[in-house]
Amino acid sequence: MIYNESGADMLELTVTDPYPSDYSEAVERANEERDNQEYPDINTDIPDLSQYDTVYLGYQTWTMTLSNPMISFLLDHGSDLSGKTIYPFSTNAGYGEGNTIERIEELAPDASVVKSFSIQDEDLLDNQEQVSKWLNEN
Ligand SMILES: Cc1cc2nc3c(=O)[nH]c(=O)nc-3n(C[C@H](O)[C@H](O)[C@H](O)COP(=O)(O)O)c2cc1C
Repeated sequence: MIYNESGADMLELTVTDPYPSDYSEAVERANEERDNQEYPDINTDIPDLSQYDTVYLGYQTWTMTLSNPMISFLLDHGSDLSGKTIYPFSTNAGYGEGNTIERIEELAPDASVVKSFSIQDEDLLDNQEQVSKWLNEN
């Protein structure tokens, strides 16, 4: 949906060891990783980020914070986002974006973070209009 508006390049973050499709098992693994501060390996080749001024950063709310793969990405590349404008967007299961913006600001301290967009996963489809409104407001 953001691509429809902006034509931005798109990159999907994937992890080397995918999470279980069973929800409880995924939560269990995610909690264990967070407790141990051991976040998953990303197996996406990250391009040279210096070519971009604006980054639309998409993730899920997990345990009212950033999903673990996004934490991995920002631990590795947060400093590459210095001086850039970040548009944070996320899906959640009804409880909102939690402290995700604060975490982005901690992990990419020299980026400029604009007002975020978060939507309940099941409401996302057919909501191009809301996405466009958010993009145009910022
Ligand atoms: C490990 C885990 C933890 C989650 N914790 C939350 C949460 O704290 N609050 C919430 O609203 N949704 C939570 N969810 C639901 C996800 O936010 C939701 O399934 C996701 O945004 C849907 O996007 P996806 O299809 O890309 O996974 C959690 C999901 C998982 C797998």
